[in-house]
Amino acid sequence: MSTPFFPQQVIARKRDGRVLMDAEIAAFVRGATDGSWADYQLSAMLMAIFLRGMNTAETVALTKAMMNSGVVADLSSVQVPKVDKHSTGGVGDKVSLHLAPMVAACGVAVPMISGRGLGHTGGTLDKLESIPGFRVGLSLEEYRERVESTGCALIGQTKELAPADKKLYALRDVTATVECLPLICASIMCKKLAEGIDALVLDVKFGRGAFMKTLPDARALAQAMVDIGNAMGKPTRALLTAMDQPLGRAVGNALEVAESIACLRGEGPADLMEVTYALGAEMLCLAKVSGDVKEGEARLREVVASGAALKKMKEIVAAQGGDARVCDAPDEVLPQAKHVRELKAERAGWVQEVVALDVALAALQLGAGRVRAEDAVDPAVGFTRLVKVGERVEAGAVLACIHANDTARLETAAAILGEAIVTGDGPVTPEPLIAERIG
Ligand code: URA
Repeated sequence: MSTPFFPQQVIARKRDGRVLMDAEIAAFVRGATDGSWADYQLSAMLMAIFLRGMNTAETVALTKAMMNSGVVADLSSVQVPKVDKHSTGGVGDKVSLHLAPMVAACGVAVPMISGRGLGHTGGTLDKLESIPGFRVGLSLEEYRERVESTGCALIGQTKELAPADKKLYALRDVTATVECLPLICASIMCKKLAEGIDALVLDVKFGRGAFMKTLPDARALAQAMVDIGNAMGKPTRALLTAMDQPLGRAVGNALEVAESIACLRGEGPADLMEVTYALGAEMLCLAKVSGDVKEGEARLREVVASGAALKKMKEIVAAQGGDARVCDAPDEVLPQAKHVRELKAERAGWVQEVVALDVALAALQLGAGRVRAEDAVDPAVGFTRLVKVGERVEAGAVLACIHANDTARLETAAAILGEAIVTGDGPVTPEPLIAERIG
């Protein structure tokens, strides 16, 4: 039996800038999982990691230990390749909702465990729950069964998966140790790798509406996560995508579901489809059902045009208890806000900016998101018909539609949104949406 490590020994070694051994990292994660390390010791260790960093081998060991702190889903009974996509989060990012059925319709299983929105970014689970009846709280057995039968499951984190992350994330949140590359990488990757996937595609966002504000920071995060995935035998690739303006034209839970259904009908906004096809093509390549991204994109376009992707979405919604009529008549099935008001341009010009963070804050005012983890969200509220950077607008043209359930909140949101959409005299060319590919 190996000698146990005292918490203070391991903390001191990292405090002094040493490279930790795998066994020391395992002891720390075990301490977080079984309670044998006190919260103050875990917090001190997190701060030591924050200040001293970790090399790739240490980050891989941390990810592995966190993944193994709970159950790793066994999807070996699923006979097709299993590939997931993870986004670091943005505004209007509803890609998962339509990408999962598109990829599943191409014969690749998509086991997807997602999160809820917190702060300015939206969460896939909140969006899905705006579909009446849709259950995101499946057990791991139900999850495996859905992946087997429909090729996809869209669920929330279960208590069995990566419990060490739950503990450590809660401590990071209150000890100023969230913004730390190895801790972020291990936290994201341990949960993804516990899903039972064969490969992973990451959408790492950068810009004012993203977690990473600059391209170099996003590149470093993407490279670190790609290295971890590959080191753990799961081919991983990342796209770096811009998040300065919202993705698509809708922001808000049910409104984003409706936009995703439009995507499955071949009526999605160009920017949203560009990111969707790029990520989906990478997934098909990693699954080896397409030889290159061009072929992958063509395959995805085919399943949209033939209606196979929409049909797959109906199957997935029905299999998780949701009202599948949402795919045929979203406005009849999804909750609708009491008030809808058009925000109009006061003058003619070109749209210079639609500041994603401010749009998200306006949506938060309407109740579309949560300020604290325990807050409820209003599924019906948000924005549609948002203009895009580079578009020409005439005086009186619609810049966005505001969907609200409360007139006072509507006024506040309209004021914030009015400031978030900046028009000016000269034409502008938006920056490319997809900046780089890593891996
Ligand atoms: N998302 C996570 O799951 N963990 C982090 O540390 C950051 C974002």
